[in-house]
Amino acid sequence: MDILILGGSSFLGRAYVTDALARGHRVTTFNRGVSGPDQPGAVAVHGDRNSPDDLARLVEGQHWDAVVDTSGQQPYAVAQTARLLRDRAGHYSFVSSIHAFADWPAEAVDEDSPTHDCPADTPADQPPANALKAGCERAVLEHFGERSSLLNCGLLIGPYENVGRLPWWLERIARGGRVILPGDPGRPMQLIDARDFAAFGIGLLEDGLTGRYVTTGPVGQTTMAGLLQACVEATGSDAELVRVDDEALLAAEVQPWTELPLWSPDEPDWAGIWQSDSSRARAAGLRDRPLAETVRDTWAWIVERGPREVPYTQGGTPLGISAERERMLLDGRAG
Ligand SMILES: NC(=O)c1ccc[n+]([C@@H]2O[C@H](COP(=O)([O-])OP(=O)(O)OC[C@H]3O[C@@H](n4cnc5c(N)ncnc54)[C@H](OP(=O)(O)O)[C@@H]3O)[C@@H](O)[C@H]2O)c1
Repeated sequence: MDILILGGSSFLGRAYVTDALARGHRVTTFNRGVSGPDQPGAVAVHGDRNSPDDLARLVEGQHWDAVVDTSGQQPYAVAQTARLLRDRAGHYSFVSSIHAFADWPAEAVDEDSPTHDCPADTPADQPPANALKAGCERAVLEHFGERSSLLNCGLLIGPYENVGRLPWWLERIARGGRVILPGDPGRPMQLIDARDFAAFGIGLLEDGLTGRYVTTGPVGQTTMAGLLQACVEATGSDAELVRVDDEALLAAEVQPWTELPLWSPDEPDWAGIWQSDSSRARAAGLRDRPLAETVRDTWAWIVERGPREVPYTQGGTPLGISAERERMLLDGRAG
């Protein structure tokens, strides 16, 4: 197949390129050339997806069997590419997010759950927000209709992670000593390796499948204790995981999700966070490698990459807890 990947130089997009090339597909990538290097074997076109001129240069004289959009965050921008590509591509596969669902993370979701009320023509000056992926989905459906697939992506981990959630934990645990094990250690979590997500996404194109797929790890795949223990094993660290419960973390105003990455309190507002139903995707071919393999490979990538020069951030918020706050919580002094 001839596949156009909008993005392709970063974490998930990179995994898509690797997977598609390994299966013998011809791949074109489109990005600005700032997030990462081009991959050998793919035709790289550099440009900004917000620039009509750059997009016109990309599509001139071209036709693709499928487009994979890993970089769409703004409805107006996705509408622009979908409009331009509707007669130049057979299928549009959009990487959306679990965030597109209106009731997540308070409630468990599946493909029939309502999405946020965000129009397909939401203008460019809207601040980035979770609801925007729902508007992007509408833009894709408007132009490609039943020739599209919408993949509601769950929490991605794996080598080349560009957010830094699992890398933060791996680096913290590698330093050793007492490490916070936040919240209920047995609370189920569901994570998906970006390589497994990409393999599923390319498989869908090969099989000609369309529609919406909640694309996450299985419910009950692991727990916070299981994940952090896998980090201890992957790094060979002497770290001691010390349980600090939700109440103590909330009393100290620890910010869920960012100050302790991947931690959220076991409260009604977060009740559905790790309960998304991915059975439709599984029936369509989604397979997960063992979590320990993902954690090991991510650590190997960090070691090979070396220390990161800029701190991890999520939406501008730094990831991770300070050593001082960590020590206070471990000593039971915070709150
Ligand atoms: N990480 C998670 O846990 C998670 C969860 C839910 C959903 N998702 C979704 O999964 C996808 C992840 O994609 P990803 O890992 O490949 O990384 P990403 O950071 O979302 O996408 C960045 C890619 O898009 C390109 N790009 C960004 N702005 C561009 C522009 N204006 N014009 C052209 N290209 C542009 C980047 O290259 P250049 O910078 O070089 O242009 C890069 O290749 C995203 O859609 C994200 O919303 C992720």
